[in-house]
Amino acid sequence: MKASFFLNPGPPDVITYGDIPEPICRPNEVKVRVGAVSVNPIDTYIRNGANYWPLPKPYVIGCDVAGTIVELGSEVRSMHVGQRVWGTNQGLMGRQGTFSEYACIDPQWLYPSPDSVSDRELAAISLVGITAHIGLFSRAQLKPNDSVFVRGGTGGVGAMVLQMAKAIGASVITTAGSPEKATRCRDLGADHVIEYNNESVGDRLKVLAPNGVDVFWETLRMPDFDLAIASMAERGRMVVMAGRDARPSFPVGPFYVKGCSLHGFAMFKEPPEQQNTAASDINHWLRTGKLRAQIDRVLPLSQSAEAHRLQEANTVQQLNTLSGKIVLEP
Ligand SMILES: NC(=O)c1ccc[n+]([C@@H]2O[C@H](COP(=O)([O-])OP(=O)(O)OC[C@H]3O[C@@H](n4cnc5c(N)ncnc54)[C@H](OP(=O)(O)O)[C@@H]3O)[C@@H](O)[C@H]2O)c1
Repeated sequence: MKASFFLNPGPPDVITYGDIPEPICRPNEVKVRVGAVSVNPIDTYIRNGANYWPLPKPYVIGCDVAGTIVELGSEVRSMHVGQRVWGTNQGLMGRQGTFSEYACIDPQWLYPSPDSVSDRELAAISLVGITAHIGLFSRAQLKPNDSVFVRGGTGGVGAMVLQMAKAIGASVITTAGSPEKATRCRDLGADHVIEYNNESVGDRLKVLAPNGVDVFWETLRMPDFDLAIASMAERGRMVVMAGRDARPSFPVGPFYVKGCSLHGFAMFKEPPEQQNTAASDINHWLRTGKLRAQIDRVLPLSQSAEAHRLQEANTVQQLNTLSGKIVLEP
């Protein structure tokens, strides 16, 4: 089968698009004919040699997947051949990735695809959607009348946080790097958009939320805790989930006096039951039109190296040319 894989980590050029043997289902796995996949920043960190865990060789890149089950392992009872499914969390913790024509996956990481939603959309939503759900509901305990600030309302995670917060009735302030992206944020339901290239986020937050926001979600790899804590309400909850090497200073006094809390997590370490709960809500919001995928472009799987270059240029070098996810199709 065709797949995008590498033998040794390195720059995007190490990704080969070529033939590898089709995977064989273990008894507790299903074989999925892949319809679409999408790129996440973590894919580029792993490819660069982050060395978080040992990788299979060859290592098929990618975490996200949407497709159709074509074969069941002998022990699988919960799914059927022909069923459309989506999921994430592959290519992580030693598992093989998804950028291939077929992938064998434990059904604990797969969810039924709503009929009305395409594989492209589901692939674009998977990792970022589950991340947003875990942060908002399991960590920050978001309530309907809360206010949320999220950095980057058209970003992978940011667009999910924005829409999920609106779906339960919270108010949302977000940021955008251009007027076009600001318009997109408003289309997604943002109550206020700060165009961070033209105005100060801190100054605008003082005006838009004079008593502070209940949830402050930082997507940048270098959190600004002074800004965040100054912008939070009493008992505000801050979510951090990026920047492994970040060592910013932390204003202890204002943080504890306000009774704030800080929540960090890595989605791939969340138990499958927790991710399943997130997927159920995501499916419900997809069916009811409250959650929409944000897709910047769709590429053939053969352009995986180019997709990595583009993702890296955005998340790491902050080129900020993307407005939504990069989706690829085998
Ligand atoms: N812990 C976890 O479980 C987890 C899960 C998923 C992702 N992550 C991490 O979270 C981070 C974000 O992931 P992502 O997929 O959302 O990335 P992304 O799609 O590249 O989004 C990055 C966002 O940052 C915004 N941005 C960039 N520079 C900015 C600046 N100077 N000021 C304000 N906003 C700026 C961009 O906004 P504009 O386009 O408007 O400029 C964009 O919306 C990555 O580091 C990723 O590794 C962690």
